[in-house]
Amino acid sequence: MCGIFAAVSDRPVAGVLVQGLKRLEYRGYDSAGVATIDDDGMKRVCAVGKVAALESRVEAERLPGCIGIAHTRWATHGSPSEGDSHPQIASGVAVVHNGIVENHGALRRRLKRQGCNFHSETDSEVIPWLISRAVADGLGAAQALNLLDEALEGSFAVAFMTEADRNVLHAKRHGSPLVAALGPQGGYLSSDISALAGLAKEAIVLSDGDLVELRRDAIAVFDKIGRPVSRPRLPVEASGGAFDKGGYHHYMLKEIHDQPSVARAVESRYDRGDFIGEQIRLDFDQVDRIRLIACGTSYYACLVAKRWFAEIAGVSAEVDLASEHRYAPHVADGLREAAILVSQSGETADTLASLEKLEGLGVPTIGIANQQASTLAREADYFLPLLAGAEIGVASTKAFTAQLLVLARFVAHVAEQRGHRAAARRLRAALGEAPKAMEAVLHNEAAIVAVAETFAKARSALFVGRGALYPLAMEGALKLKEISYIHAEGFAAGELKHGPIALVDEQTPVVALAPTGALFSKLASNVREIAARKGRIILIGDRKALLALSDVADASLTLPTCDELIQPIIAAIPLQFLAYHVAAARGRDIDRPRNLAKSVTVE
Ligand code: M6R
Repeated sequence: MCGIFAAVSDRPVAGVLVQGLKRLEYRGYDSAGVATIDDDGMKRVCAVGKVAALESRVEAERLPGCIGIAHTRWATHGSPSEGDSHPQIASGVAVVHNGIVENHGALRRRLKRQGCNFHSETDSEVIPWLISRAVADGLGAAQALNLLDEALEGSFAVAFMTEADRNVLHAKRHGSPLVAALGPQGGYLSSDISALAGLAKEAIVLSDGDLVELRRDAIAVFDKIGRPVSRPRLPVEASGGAFDKGGYHHYMLKEIHDQPSVARAVESRYDRGDFIGEQIRLDFDQVDRIRLIACGTSYYACLVAKRWFAEIAGVSAEVDLASEHRYAPHVADGLREAAILVSQSGETADTLASLEKLEGLGVPTIGIANQQASTLAREADYFLPLLAGAEIGVASTKAFTAQLLVLARFVAHVAEQRGHRAAARRLRAALGEAPKAMEAVLHNEAAIVAVAETFAKARSALFVGRGALYPLAMEGALKLKEISYIHAEGFAAGELKHGPIALVDEQTPVVALAPTGALFSKLASNVREIAARKGRIILIGDRKALLALSDVADASLTLPTCDELIQPIIAAIPLQFLAYHVAAARGRDIDRPRNLAKSVTVE
């Protein structure tokens, strides 16, 4: 959600800025812009829509500046228009900003009274005005940036440059992520480390409150009281391979197909020695309750883990949506808790707010995220990486199954500590089968394409499951709605007759997650209830289950036979394929669905 990219070099930077923005596109945006400074002064070029539109304009302008800042903007205040795009410029100061200035109304009124002439509707425009006034009052860049801490309410990352000094970029991190790097051809700032591929070997991950001064051959980082500080460095993936679609039409399709190799990567890291025990110094035998917190797809992964914790480790778990948990009253019931916060990006604002709340309550926190340079990775007490590789498609696919795989290993670790060794062994053995089972589903893609073609005409769809597959029903519905824009809902199959069955008719496809297992006979009854109301049933199950329900299925998607414990992991794949191929049949912008951002860094 919004992306900052900036560069200072001894050669023109417009091309590298546009390239940087292309690599940040996946975060979600609706307009983009760059500004550079050359001998003739500051030049700003912006475009609504794709970075490709901006690229043509930048090429036409032939910007010669060797210092520049760039931005992809996801509109919050003001429309996605050229005027509201960043960089925002005031009195020779150009600023790019991620985040929201919550008190921008009051600031704007005050600055207007002081003679500042606003040109846009965006909350961000107060920032160049605040900086330029501070600089005019004789303050240095660092002091001007520190003033923002006092003036602005909300979280932000800001980068700016001034016409007065064409050699240095300034930036500040206050809640929103930012990394800085030096390479052979200059210095760079980016919201995301992966956008630096090919430009630098490693990046400095800024901490909250840090200021950076970046020149073509030097980086200086200062903490919020102005002391020079050294911050952790992370390697930058050399090739930028994450941005290669690998021959697939979309990143999402590539990422669906990546899943067996992600499962193998997780297996090889987590099954080597006591990896989790080395990362997390907690005795789970002394924990009464696990608290799981996340948003969206990550929340559904937590709901699956809740069942595993109860079934395998004998510990109760509560799952909360971060957006609710952060404002929910806390009940001090004396139970000893450990909290697990799960996120692909590690930057989701609500999840980070929950983290802060839990830390305030003294609850030990474990972050699980794909981005190792993320705030969640840095600020949770303990951290487990997902190892899914960069996920570019907005719809989470391989990060979701990686979350399930890592959570399952975590459950096995907790089970062992609590003396449930046989159950832990069973879960680990089942997980060992996951990569092959995933491959078997990937080989069935053609069958799913055929189902998707008729499904694509539906106006609404239902997904049902029971037990650990109920969260998958919700995940299947979320995946379908976010990329195909078909209305979809996921239900616990047993709840149908308490209301949702009223929605069943001949036009509404109902996807039933029905592999053989402890709850199969219950699920089968629910499927027959749907059939009796003329619902169009798409069954997802193993051969035995499909055979048992063959008389009522309009279409069937086959899952390999596997331990029931890992069915949620394997069943995720046909649901992802279904959403993908339905969206493709409807001609949707699959990797960048409307209104959505990959990394939801504002509340
Ligand atoms: O980065 P996170 O996992 O914290 O993001 C949470 C949700 O925004 C995310 O899972 C969202 O629901 C995806 N678009 C789902 O595909």
